[in-house]
Amino acid sequence: MSPEKLVAMAKEAMTHAYAPYSGYKVGAALLCADGTVYSGCNIENASYTPTICAERTAFFKAVYDGHRDFKAIAVCGGKDGVITGAFPPCGVCRQVMREFCEDDFLIHMAGAEGTWETHTLAEILPCSFSAKKHMR
Ligand code: THU
Repeated sequence: MSPEKLVAMAKEAMTHAYAPYSGYKVGAALLCADGTVYSGCNIENASYTPTICAERTAFFKAVYDGHRDFKAIAVCGGKDGVITGAFPPCGVCRQVMREFCEDDFLIHMAGAEGTWETHTLAEILPCSFSAKKHMR
């Protein structure tokens, strides 16, 4: 699966966002090792803290279905769904990626006009705490 295709799927996922409080819409498309793609969007809540990010929606859907091996995720977001720059996943979502992914897991951060930046998980979450490194 090309980064272009995964980014396009993240943009489609963004249209599913439920973001009546922030107005900030986010979409994610998670590529599993077997080629399956899981989409996710942010889902907000009137009580604010139960809000879930798009990335975690995608991961939790995939993990529920039995997936444990992941290759890449594309993410995009913007106020009212208008993308103005590369979208960096929040720290909580990076830690969820750490739970299931290796250092070479790819994060495609979609920007305006079909652009994206790609970083590895090791780059965006250095010195991380992980089950594999610290709990065995
Ligand atoms: N959000 C995400 O979906 N992913 C992130 O990585 C950062 C933030 C959502 C949560 C909230 O609904 C909105 O963006 C504004 O923070």
